[in-house]
Amino acid sequence: MGACVTYLDPSGSQIGKKESIPDTARVLGRMFDGIEYRGFEQTKVEELAKYAGVPVWNGLTNESHPTQMIADMMTIKEHFGKLSGIKFVYMGDARYNMGNSLMVTCAKLGMDFVACTNKKYFPEAALVEECEKIAKETGATITLTEDVAAGCKDADVIYTDVWVSMGEPDEVWEERIKELSPYQVNAKAFSYAKPGAKFMHCLPAFHDLKTTIGQEIYEKFGIDCMEVTDDIFEGERSIVFDEAENRMHSIKAIMYATLGNA
Ligand code: NVA
Repeated sequence: MGACVTYLDPSGSQIGKKESIPDTARVLGRMFDGIEYRGFEQTKVEELAKYAGVPVWNGLTNESHPTQMIADMMTIKEHFGKLSGIKFVYMGDARYNMGNSLMVTCAKLGMDFVACTNKKYFPEAALVEECEKIAKETGATITLTEDVAAGCKDADVIYTDVWVSMGEPDEVWEERIKELSPYQVNAKAFSYAKPGAKFMHCLPAFHDLKTTIGQEIYEKFGIDCMEVTDDIFEGERSIVFDEAENRMHSIKAIMYATLGNA
């Protein structure tokens, strides 16, 4: 299948500024076979999908990151040979796109999902309730805990994400560092997990000082890593680059299936 890709950056169209989303959706829908939208509000991608008349793929919003889920689950299956029954622990900001989507996905696939974080960062109650209903049918479990030892006990996978996401202002770094540092993924957290437990991260990750923000944070707060320590990120438990590679395979499969080829 040959493919032609056009990238529209935030300044490359009038979407939402001079042209409404329904209008842009119908224009793009006449020109393209599918649209991948990566932005902020979930309502926007849903509106685009409603009007485009072609498949619209959610490439990330503040609320969810569904395409990443296929890559992540593919990676877990490659390493563990199964999904059902896997104890999956998410540490960090569990009320944003990655935490939300991982909880939904684990619930649907019969996995044991744990959000292990400061309670301020627990996923929204309504979403937890929805996932609990799904879990009853699939055999999954949903646990929210502030206790690292209990949360990580016998974990198969420990997952984290950046503490400040794309749609958020730089001013929140300080409070995130203060509130989420106890939930950093490090050797201590893994000491509670199963011997073969793996580390996952959707990237980008702050595990060293080789980024501008990593350097700025070091100068301001004196820490050389944030959500994950460098030894874990670079260590043998880490499967983050298998996960990164699988984003390519999985998005191709998603596009192939939804373009009416499967
Ligand atoms: N929570 C992160 C995910 C990046 C793939 C963000 O929104 O920036």
